[in-house]
Amino acid sequence: MLILPILLATTVVASKLGGYELQNLERNRYGLTATLSLAGPACNAFGTDASQLTIEVTYESTSRLHVNIFDTPREQFTIPEEVISRPPRPTTSFVDSSDLIFNYEPSPFAFWITRRTEPDSVPLFDTRIRSLPSTPIPDLTPNGTLINLDGFPLVFEDQFLQLTSALPFDTNIYGLGEAVSSSGFRRDIGTGATGGTIQTMWARNIADPVDGNMYGSHPFYMEHRFNDSTRISQSHGVFLMNSAGSDILLLTPPSSNVSLIQYRMIGGVMDFYFFSGPDPKSVIEQYGATIGLPAWVPAWGFGFHLCRWGYPDINETKAQVDNMRAANIPLEGKPSFRVIGLFLKIWRKVQWQDIDIYHALRDFTSDPVSFPAEEMRSFIRELALNNQKYIPIVDAALPKQTNKTDIYNPYLKGADLDVFVKNPDGSEYIGQVWPGYTVFPDWFRNTTQDWWTEALLNWSLSGIEFSGIWLDMNEIASFCTGSCGTGANLSNTTVDHIFPGNPGNPVIDYPECYDSAVWGPSGNISINGTLTFGCDSAPLSSSSAVPRRSFAESNTDIDVNTPPYAIHNGFGPLSNMTLATNATHAGGLFDLEVHNMYGMMEEKATHLALQKIHPGKRPFIIARSTFPSTGKWAGHWLGDNFSRWQYLRFTIPGVLQFQMFQIPLVGADACGVDGNTDEELCNRWMQLAAFTPFFRNHNERGAISQEPYRWDSVAEASRTAIATRYSLLPYWYTLFANASIHGTPPVRALFFEFPDESELFSVDTQFLIGRDILVTPVLFPNVSTVDAILPGRGEVVWRDFYTHEIVSPTTGSSITLPAPLGHINVHIRDGSVLLLHAEPAYTIEETRQGPFSLLSSLATNGQAFGSAFIDDGVSDPPGDNTTITFSINNNTLHINPVGSFRVSQMLQDINVLGVANAPEHVLLQGQTPLNWVYLGNLRRLSITNITLDLNEPQVIQWI
Ligand code: NOJ
Repeated sequence: MLILPILLATTVVASKLGGYELQNLERNRYGLTATLSLAGPACNAFGTDASQLTIEVTYESTSRLHVNIFDTPREQFTIPEEVISRPPRPTTSFVDSSDLIFNYEPSPFAFWITRRTEPDSVPLFDTRIRSLPSTPIPDLTPNGTLINLDGFPLVFEDQFLQLTSALPFDTNIYGLGEAVSSSGFRRDIGTGATGGTIQTMWARNIADPVDGNMYGSHPFYMEHRFNDSTRISQSHGVFLMNSAGSDILLLTPPSSNVSLIQYRMIGGVMDFYFFSGPDPKSVIEQYGATIGLPAWVPAWGFGFHLCRWGYPDINETKAQVDNMRAANIPLEGKPSFRVIGLFLKIWRKVQWQDIDIYHALRDFTSDPVSFPAEEMRSFIRELALNNQKYIPIVDAALPKQTNKTDIYNPYLKGADLDVFVKNPDGSEYIGQVWPGYTVFPDWFRNTTQDWWTEALLNWSLSGIEFSGIWLDMNEIASFCTGSCGTGANLSNTTVDHIFPGNPGNPVIDYPECYDSAVWGPSGNISINGTLTFGCDSAPLSSSSAVPRRSFAESNTDIDVNTPPYAIHNGFGPLSNMTLATNATHAGGLFDLEVHNMYGMMEEKATHLALQKIHPGKRPFIIARSTFPSTGKWAGHWLGDNFSRWQYLRFTIPGVLQFQMFQIPLVGADACGVDGNTDEELCNRWMQLAAFTPFFRNHNERGAISQEPYRWDSVAEASRTAIATRYSLLPYWYTLFANASIHGTPPVRALFFEFPDESELFSVDTQFLIGRDILVTPVLFPNVSTVDAILPGRGEVVWRDFYTHEIVSPTTGSSITLPAPLGHINVHIRDGSVLLLHAEPAYTIEETRQGPFSLLSSLATNGQAFGSAFIDDGVSDPPGDNTTITFSINNNTLHINPVGSFRVSQMLQDINVLGVANAPEHVLLQGQTPLNWVYLGNLRRLSITNITLDLNEPQVIQWI
């Protein structure tokens, strides 16, 4: 039914539209500029056509081409440089050396991008679309339509911009988010039974919806093209620097041999960047060089984090710390893996605190009864003495002080400094969140930063001596539809919202596979760690996708409150559950234009604040709503997922998406947040999450407790996985250094490393950490095996990380691996050398102080290579560092440190896998004999009991 307005509007305008005509072309050293004039009568489909546009084409480097089409008077909103800084303009000409070429035809104006090396290949991006029927094409959803404005010309109106590009039929598209996509990491382009994708960009406070818009907006995609005849692939990327609400459609019209991407924005400009790749990792690096590279992560941030909504007081919070300690595994416990010297001593973690801490649910407070500030100070200091950390939540909205006797300083000070978002008439904008009526910091105001820094600092001084900050509800969430101010009784601060777990809102859903006849209490389904019962192992039904809704109107007035083209916002009208679109920021900016950037701007302000509060230390921030460049300031968790197997599976596509978005520090809440988890799900999830960058177990209020010690099997599985994670820290840390220096994604889809193996293009049930570690988690209940593809088509040797046994290579088909409950398959690639921590310890800090070990898996030619980036793990900006390279050739290991950081830990042992024969001698620097053992069945040479100084070059030979 709702389809009607769009169809009408489309039909009406289709016959009139002529697009634009290019004139006044001027070429310069860096590219070209030209004007685009309306080529016919205005279309005014969902706004007013701009009569004249400017196009600027800049060859910014050999791999980056910038095509910016904007209204010549520059009245449309453009993301300010102060909000997202752009790469400096080129000083060298790349016009003749760029990998990418801009091509155009003047009338009607259309452009296409080709590779210099392949001028005749299908263009990478092509806005000439003539081969399709000019009548509206049925769309990918039951209630939408493809807006086919008379052959898809460029449409540039004040409230509606549209650009369509042809794509090769059924090509591989990744990115466009934030999305929990039913098609997984590879986006649905509409060639199959399902109808394609509408990715809506409108930040939304919603528990992870399948195929709906959610917390973050990322108009960036990568296309990976595979040439069937050469069997070679190439990747490229496309980024639209625009913060407006938008729909980006991926679809394949019926009976067409072409797929399409269509952009529909309700504001802003068409500011496109094209990246030439030509492989997946370089596309992502090139995108990072444009929007900004990820912040350096403090080493402790890679520890295990424990959280829940519903630790009601300090005693319960402390009890969690104690219970975790009590779940210690004694040193004599036998590890189930054989990295020499790898023993788990005790649990270690970062303790988090949800809004329970607040007094009257207000930011920057602690409840005087349940979380007395001085006791909190001692508790946090005690944690600090043990090298443990404390991270509290900060909600984006602050309560408006309504009662003169109930002083709330952050509000009073903020009101004084005029830092809050306003109504169009200049009065304070009032919304509603947990504490009742609220105000919202306006990050565009120049007084806001200092006020925010002071509020955080005062909180810390009051006793909440945080190590990092968790930024929640920053889409920004508000429970009224638009402003609650007009006519609201502001003295009644009661929120019409019952917390989960309170009377009226119990969390009573059964765990997904619950069977009352068999299970014990609290989702416990094992006896002494042995799985006794679970779901049927058949794929579980997926929860139904959120219905997409359309609210288009044929109204052509400029309308801030109800933009005429209605994007497919899952909440319908744009002001639902957030600020009204006419809420006004400094400089008269309507929230309509900047809504999607709110979270990112808060993250930036918080990062800058933490740099002042903890000078010289790296800020650690995990945030919910993200936008391009968030990674410079914060990491991300995948939001409110559900304690369901389906959401365990969504973890991997989610983590991979954010690698593409340059926010590599990301993870899903292990065991699931919403609803009740169970032992088996939590067991598998803790193991998977231990191999993702940000590792946190978080739970909702009122649900079954799910700290990892709650079930023996989960405790055991977690210990093993955490120990492995901690042993791998030098590797993770090096990958993250590369992310912050080069933008290289630490976690990789299999095809990132094996781009020509087309059977990998859709694989998102496994992933790689860096180049060398392959993770194959169990994602379904009641199974004890898992199917895995071992990339390399039989030419790469994969060895089991724990046992060091070779896993039979295959030629592109999957193999079945044993995966009993508590075991996650991890394999090491050949040709690798990994620096590991030999003794995972109580905390990250103590682990880092312990000795190293080296693990190498030789390629069949006997060679291997690896490197490790080492510094103090905390300094901001990073200070001295040393990169150690490890290379093996001809039975000789060369260790070469370069840099000024003094590595105080010694190398304690070395394991080389793939050594063909037992050596007779193992010598250091050609003369000193070393202790060694050779295990013929594993072809493993273990060099033990050494104390090698990694600050000096070392040569070890086995002869
Ligand atoms: C929403 C967040 O996504 C969730 O993680 C948190 O527990 C609740 N807000 C309460 O603060």
